[in-house]
Amino acid sequence: MIELRTPGEIDEMQAAGEFVASTLQALKARAAVGVNLLDLDAFAHDLIRQRGAESCYLDYAPSFGSGPFGYVLCTSVNDAVLHGKPHPYRLRDGDLLSLDFAASVDGWVADSAISLVVGTANPDDIELIALTERALHAGIAAAVVGNKTGDISHAIGSVAHEAGLSVNLEFGGHGVGRTMHGDPHVSNDGRPGRGFPLKPGLVIAIEPWFMRGTDKLRTDPDGWTLRSADGSRTAHSEHTIAITDDGPITLTRPRA
Ligand code: MF3
Ligand code: CO
Repeated sequence: MIELRTPGEIDEMQAAGEFVASTLQALKARAAVGVNLLDLDAFAHDLIRQRGAESCYLDYAPSFGSGPFGYVLCTSVNDAVLHGKPHPYRLRDGDLLSLDFAASVDGWVADSAISLVVGTANPDDIELIALTERALHAGIAAAVVGNKTGDISHAIGSVAHEAGLSVNLEFGGHGVGRTMHGDPHVSNDGRPGRGFPLKPGLVIAIEPWFMRGTDKLRTDPDGWTLRSADGSRTAHSEHTIAITDDGPITLTRPRA
């Protein structure tokens, strides 16, 4: 079921957006060579407690994962792209780290992801991250009243195809509200003019994730972490946005 939010509700959702954005910025500042993924998760968990927020991940047990996730942050390194389960691993020079974080504040969820390189960056990795960011911004630009979800999907997919990347359609964007995953599904590739009509009050996460090589995924023995099947590098960028008559509002934008 697709739910639309009132302008007042969208205002209320800003708090969650701001918390999720600031947590990701704080994590980005901490991510350095030698830092353990479990420490990043513990740090995010502390921020959740201090804010009186609630994790969307800790007890989350969807069909695409095995059992409750058990952590508050997804940490996906190099060929890992989505749902990276934190484990005892110290970041190394040149690692490409994707961080995906969702929490609720005052009962409203925000969901966002960033990718970054730790230490010395390979230019190809910087480019891959920039492509997911460009696709995210193209998707947001298409998130206007009168368009359809397919226009967002097409905008994202076009960035990938122009760069010679294929797109995996198993996971994509989604409605966001009182819970993290709702309707509509927002695919990372598709045909313009198709799908659900974008209406004022629709709040969605848009989340392009790209892989350098194959478009196939494999799952780690932890039952969660998804990697490129060929070991190629991957990146992911995500914002939660609200569609309004005045254009899209990026709820998870980093504030000064
Ligand atoms: N936040 C992710 C998304 O972008 C979902 C993570 S599910 C988890 O949709 F259980 F792995 F945390
Ligand atoms: Co999401």
